[in-house]
Amino acid sequence: MKFNKIELEQVAGFKSQWPKECIEEIAFVGRSNVGKSSFINAFLGRKNLAKTSSKPGKTRTINFYNIDNKFRLVDLPGYGYAKVSKKEKEKWDKLINEYLHDRENLKEVFLLVDIRHEPTDLDRQMYDWIIESGFTGFIIATKYDKISKNQLQKHIKAIMNKLDVVDEGLIFAYSSENKHNLGVIHEQIEVIINNKDFI
Ligand code: GTP
Ligand code: MG
Repeated sequence: MKFNKIELEQVAGFKSQWPKECIEEIAFVGRSNVGKSSFINAFLGRKNLAKTSSKPGKTRTINFYNIDNKFRLVDLPGYGYAKVSKKEKEKWDKLINEYLHDRENLKEVFLLVDIRHEPTDLDRQMYDWIIESGFTGFIIATKYDKISKNQLQKHIKAIMNKLDVVDEGLIFAYSSENKHNLGVIHEQIEVIINNKDFI
């Protein structure tokens, strides 16, 4: 999939700032620091378009990336970051939940988990919601460069067990460092975007 014009169309701290629901959106959710913004940069082939940080809690708004006025990728704040105030946490959770529940042009939601760690109860809650809402249940297991290849199956099984994933094919072992499986995810997203459900 080739892109011509990519822009950060909107940075939204409030629902009133969301762009019009005129094109489909694909959202990326997951714990703080799992690599959502890094994935979006890699996917779009731009190093620093989405701001990333080694410290959790970097993305604090909903950021809408417009690709050729054809579709948007949506970078959400992370959940489960312990070191923020209760008030701040509630604000982020409201942002995330409001977006996921109310957005009518939301075509697909990808859950990102860190391949090294068993998913958390919050990941499980999110994944259950994704499935109950009728989305496919794709999972991007990030930071694959941090484990050895012979550990892959063990980690994939842990993710499948914790999240009750029905099909191993839904999980992409991925790395923003070496771009492992980026091409496969590109193909999958192209299929999603070209599926003409949306009127
Ligand atoms: P929040 O915005 O805080 O929710 O985090 P995020 O999910 O957007 O994570 P971000 O992309 O900012 O990445 C967090 C840290 O993990 C950064 O230091 C990244 O460089 C690093 N990182 C992200 N993906 C990978 C990966 O695949 N491999 C490795 N080794 N590091 C990664
Ligand atoms: Mg981020």
